[in-house]
Amino acid sequence: MKKVRNLLEITDFSIEEIDQLIHLALDIIDKPQKYAESCKGKKLATLFYEPSTRTRLSFTAAMMELGGNVLGFSDAAASSVSKGEVVADTVRVVECFADIIAMRHNKEGAPWVASQHISIPVINAGDGGHCHPTQTLTDLLTIYREKGCFENLTIGFCGDLLYGRTVHSLSKAMKRYKGVKFVFISPKELRIPEYLKADILRDGCQFVETENLEEVMPQLDVLYMTRVQKERFDSEEDYNRLKDSFILDLNKLHNAPKDMIILHPLPRVNEIAYDVDCDSRACYFKQVLNGKYIRMALIYTLLKWKSEGVEAKADDFTKGEPCDNPRCISHTEEVCPLYHTTEDGLKHCIYCDKALK
Ligand code: CP
Repeated sequence: MKKVRNLLEITDFSIEEIDQLIHLALDIIDKPQKYAESCKGKKLATLFYEPSTRTRLSFTAAMMELGGNVLGFSDAAASSVSKGEVVADTVRVVECFADIIAMRHNKEGAPWVASQHISIPVINAGDGGHCHPTQTLTDLLTIYREKGCFENLTIGFCGDLLYGRTVHSLSKAMKRYKGVKFVFISPKELRIPEYLKADILRDGCQFVETENLEEVMPQLDVLYMTRVQKERFDSEEDYNRLKDSFILDLNKLHNAPKDMIILHPLPRVNEIAYDVDCDSRACYFKQVLNGKYIRMALIYTLLKWKSEGVEAKADDFTKGEPCDNPRCISHTEEVCPLYHTTEDGLKHCIYCDKALK
């Protein structure tokens, strides 16, 4: 089977390709009429096994503004998934009706499994606590429009860095730019996974970890707030203890740089007070709108590459022991345990990225 280009995680696109997407999105913003019929006759299937407001609706609006159509489901319980259908079968069926798929799933690696069974592009619209590459494209377009570059920025990630898939994807993207520094602000229990810290160090970037947001505020060019991910906790008691660890309000912003920007993938629960919305540094609603434009650029590009026969590089993996991450798709789908090996010799699950012990 031909391997089409997908977006399963942000590193599927080189920094040059991300730059092209950003410039295409800027052109779409500037001249929307030029693209109004560019996907005429094409269909996007949105397969959302988990709740969403922004991602699903922005994909839908994006395809409509490109002149294409949208089909799919927003609740797996209303599809044949509720009868026990596996991802591999569902996407083989959807391929008969659609030209491109955007999939959100609670199991980590589900979009990767989908991509192995079909010849139309698959976009990961968020898989469990693993990654969320189209949110990252949204974040990158926002940073570019607000700050004008990516190099030499100091970005503070605050909140649930353990389960926050948007943090995982954005840190993977930003570590590729020169001079970027990371400040990880979280309670000890919600620290960023070790494998991501190892990745950052391997790429020669610096990071610090802290529990004190106000202390590091003056250093930040970008403050990326996140929600504590209730749906990923096994214990409600732990969630209740940690949910209000960080609440950004105007008082806490008194020592922040005047040109710092505040991002949040949304939805927000309690971690940004509503009075911050009026501060000129608050960019999280601009971020939502940027999400539509960058998804237009992404759909346009993946369909163009498919029509031109552009192929993805072959995956490099070996067979191994079953993955011990209970959230990995390899436990619910009939798949072989597969691993890729990083430069430092560590084996990581191909589906969920978890390092093999
Ligand atoms: N940012 C984000 O993924 O929002 P939704 O869950 O509403 O799609």
